[in-house]
Amino acid sequence: MIYELDSALTTHFITALRDAESDAPRFRQLVKLLALLLADDLFENGDLTDCDIDTWQGRQRFACLDESNLLIVTVLRAGLPMLEALMEYFPQAQAGFLAIKRDETTHRAKLYFDRVPDCTGKHILLVDPMVATGGSLIDAMEVLKDRGAARISSLNIIGAPEGLERVTKLYPDLDIHIAQIDDHLNGDKYIIPGLGDAGDRAYNTL
Ligand code: PRP
Ligand code: URA
Repeated sequence: MIYELDSALTTHFITALRDAESDAPRFRQLVKLLALLLADDLFENGDLTDCDIDTWQGRQRFACLDESNLLIVTVLRAGLPMLEALMEYFPQAQAGFLAIKRDETTHRAKLYFDRVPDCTGKHILLVDPMVATGGSLIDAMEVLKDRGAARISSLNIIGAPEGLERVTKLYPDLDIHIAQIDDHLNGDKYIIPGLGDAGDRAYNTL
């Protein structure tokens, strides 16, 4: 299922991401903020559980998310600011890393490093700002799908219809929370209008 954000705030921050004047620190800041908006879209009241906390009036029971059950898996490089933001706001969550790079000629994604802890029973938040051909997300799902996770949610910022269709055909049960779906891919498999290469924009390697 694909859930696309629909808010003026999201649109405003995506426009700022598209702005070539947004430098690397600003770009990473916007990616972090959008990661939080996507997490807000993902979690529902039904995900809340009870937690006992020490308040100024003694020990009391309130609603909370089970942070310790969250495993945030990022696709390097561009997904790194999303992971940083979510780890900051869910300090008890665990982190996993997948290094996946698209070949610039064939546009095929290739996994070259995988450091993901035990996934048994976890809710995996798979974070990567871009879904272009969908190859990177498919590679990530290939790694994660048989590792015993209770649930996998994909959080993405911009996607192309072609890549999203490819992913949903292969993984119809995967929930994808995406900030905006753009128009199409160009001949080089970049998203149009998109924002260029997210990894290069985030880390000053244009
Ligand atoms: C970008 C982005 C995605 C991928 C999407 O990574 O972060 O992982 O492209 O494209 P796809 O859907 O066609 O696979 P890239 O390979 O450019 O690496 P980077 O993050 O290191 O720049
Ligand atoms: N990866 C990016 O970072 N941007 C695109 O438009 C396509 C793939």
